[in-house]
Amino acid sequence: MTEIYWIDENNIDDNLLFKAAKVLRDGGIAAFPTETVYGLGANALDSKAVKKIFRAKGRPSDNPLIVHVADYEGIFPLVAEINEAAETLIHRFMPGPITIVMKKSTAIPDEVTAGLDTVGIRMPSHKIASRLIKLAGVPVAAPSANLSGKPSPTRPEHVIHDMDGRVDVIIADGICDIGVESTVVDVTGDVPVILRPGGVTFEELQSVLGKVEIDPAVLRKPDKNLVAKAPGMKYTHYSPDADVVIVAGPSEMVAAEVNRLAKEDMAEGKKVAVLASDETSGLYDIMVVPIGSQKDKLSISSRIFDALRRLDELGVDKAYAEAVDEEGLGLAIMNRMKKAAGYRIIKVGEK
Ligand code: TXA
Ligand code: MG
Repeated sequence: MTEIYWIDENNIDDNLLFKAAKVLRDGGIAAFPTETVYGLGANALDSKAVKKIFRAKGRPSDNPLIVHVADYEGIFPLVAEINEAAETLIHRFMPGPITIVMKKSTAIPDEVTAGLDTVGIRMPSHKIASRLIKLAGVPVAAPSANLSGKPSPTRPEHVIHDMDGRVDVIIADGICDIGVESTVVDVTGDVPVILRPGGVTFEELQSVLGKVEIDPAVLRKPDKNLVAKAPGMKYTHYSPDADVVIVAGPSEMVAAEVNRLAKEDMAEGKKVAVLASDETSGLYDIMVVPIGSQKDKLSISSRIFDALRRLDELGVDKAYAEAVDEEGLGLAIMNRMKKAAGYRIIKVGEK
């Protein structure tokens, strides 16, 4: 039986949150909102509880979980060292949408890190997440609260859809502000490396670190010669049932190509839709699923997973998705879209 607690971030009912915290302390699992996506949490120091997360999600056990803390003091017992780059990132970006991969301490069970000697640490800024971890009094291991392979949940209905009946508690609040997951940065080498782009942008990281690299697997399809350093990046992800293809190029040419291809699909009896921006949605003569404004990347990041889930609700067979430029949050948005599309991109108007 799953209990659903509706809690408002701006008017937190501490009694309900305390009940959820007790579930975590007693070895249960609870879904909760964060500023990025909803997470599914367990006491990170309790390997039996952590195993329940893998079971509820259907997640491969070789994919490590990140560990969430409420404050700076919470970090020290979990890591072997905090080097200069980690220190810089902690002070500049925590609490917030970043996960810092550091050498782990012996406190962290192998189940959490899938046997790696590093651990990803995240301090969410969302008031419910932060208060829940504080009340639980333990570090909280939490992946995104979706069934493995599905788009991450950014709205309460997504979590309820995927997790009702599989977890002890769901804390339901509103829509997640950022809507793509945290940026995972590995600081254990000479130069910090972005393993997964997310809410903190490459440009922001570069401005404080000077030098920062992007794991090549972020930009192109991982294969046997290119192994993703974040184990989770190698799996098919964010896949709606619909067949998704990205279309890149000048807006008018993209729309013309999509309209032409969609006609062929529909002649084959397929239901077709396009994920399009506010600026270009008028150019299509097929069903449009809006993804926000090109001028405001946050409007797109906060909607992208919902748009992908909507394709399934609408029973769409084939979906075209407009590419966005990869500046700022665009890098994370395109990374998720590429994965949803199995890295299939049609380029139009190239010289
Ligand atoms: O925003 C977020 O990060 C959300 C919320 C709930 O905090 N969590 C989240 O967790 O997205 P998850 O498990 O869905 O994604 C974590 C990613 C995976 O790709 C995993 O492989 C990678 O981080 N990761 C975790 N620990 C790692 C480690 N020690 N070394 C390398 N990659 C790691
Ligand atoms: Mg996930």
